[in-house]
Amino acid sequence: MALQKFQHFMLKEIYEQPEVIRHSLSDPTEAFQVLPTLDQVEEIQILACGTSFHAGLIGQFLLEQVAGIPTRVRSASEFLAAPFPRFRNTLVVVVSQSGETADVLAAMQVVKQSSPGGAFNILAITNNSQSSIATEADYEISVAAGIETSVAATKTFTAQLALFYGLAFFYARQGQRLSNEQLKGWNAQLDALPAQVEKVLQQEATITAIAASLKDTKTLMLLGTGINYPIALEGALKLKETTYTHAEGYAAGEFLHGPIALLDQTIPTIAICPSQRSRSASAERMLKVAQKISSNGSDVILLGGSDAAIVLPPCEELLSPFLNIVPLQLLAYHLAISRNIDVDHPRNITKSLKSS
Ligand code: M6R
Repeated sequence: MALQKFQHFMLKEIYEQPEVIRHSLSDPTEAFQVLPTLDQVEEIQILACGTSFHAGLIGQFLLEQVAGIPTRVRSASEFLAAPFPRFRNTLVVVVSQSGETADVLAAMQVVKQSSPGGAFNILAITNNSQSSIATEADYEISVAAGIETSVAATKTFTAQLALFYGLAFFYARQGQRLSNEQLKGWNAQLDALPAQVEKVLQQEATITAIAASLKDTKTLMLLGTGINYPIALEGALKLKETTYTHAEGYAAGEFLHGPIALLDQTIPTIAICPSQRSRSASAERMLKVAQKISSNGSDVILLGGSDAAIVLPPCEELLSPFLNIVPLQLLAYHLAISRNIDVDHPRNITKSLKSS
């Protein structure tokens, strides 16, 4: 893999996202035709680790809120100690960029052993169709993001998201929760996403300046709500692993129940606001929390919304994770560079955790 004009793979892979999303969303529901039909899916369980786990949390939001299917998510490593109770007609979705993560493979074995009669169907979402996880599953759908070299997952995350939107729309259509017309409407909005992500990438200079202002910051809070809560978690993970900053993601409302006491003038908060034409209830909720934090004297960096430090193109809130994650990836990248960290190879971690 060549770096082309980029200095690091992480940046190159961040910039590949419009193309990856375009490819993944070209026919969003088509790949799922092989799956059990909705009448055979009473529940979905999602198992994954790290960034793939965060994609799974957004998957849960979509499958519950759009498709109306009860969905549970658990980190694969925790599933080993606490497997979900057995259910009939369960679709288990395992998500792994590498397709080789040991904890995910072990969780799949637990699922298989608890289901000798085959009550479970396992769908693997991976970026490697030849991988152990893809091979062990009943169904495999590739995110086809191309090789990801940087240890920090970026383009595979947005590609995993694209598949979860496809899966949720697929079952929502089957369950008559979306008409053909509505599905067409969503498809048109999905088609617009790559160009919107390109617009976000054009804000790199602004984000680089914000990174410079955070050069000596030791702790950062990230807040999101609704479908963007997992984006706060994922942004914090990117910042932790690439910049060694203590970064924590919280649900905005939950932050008020204790963690807000941590804040002082040395701890900035990034507030992730969905950026749609009219303010949604979650945007209002987020702004209220942001105001409370700044009135207490702590800095807030607003991401999204018209008064934001980083202004994002307006889009439906449901699709906003695609736009909100990109500035956080760029922020992590530039903060790492400003600290002279080898961003493609952060300390203590490897691309694929083949043993735990
Ligand atoms: O290959 P996987 O998606 O199964 O990997 C899971 C995690 O190890 C991975 O997402 C890790 O958290 C990344 N370094 C995040 O950027």
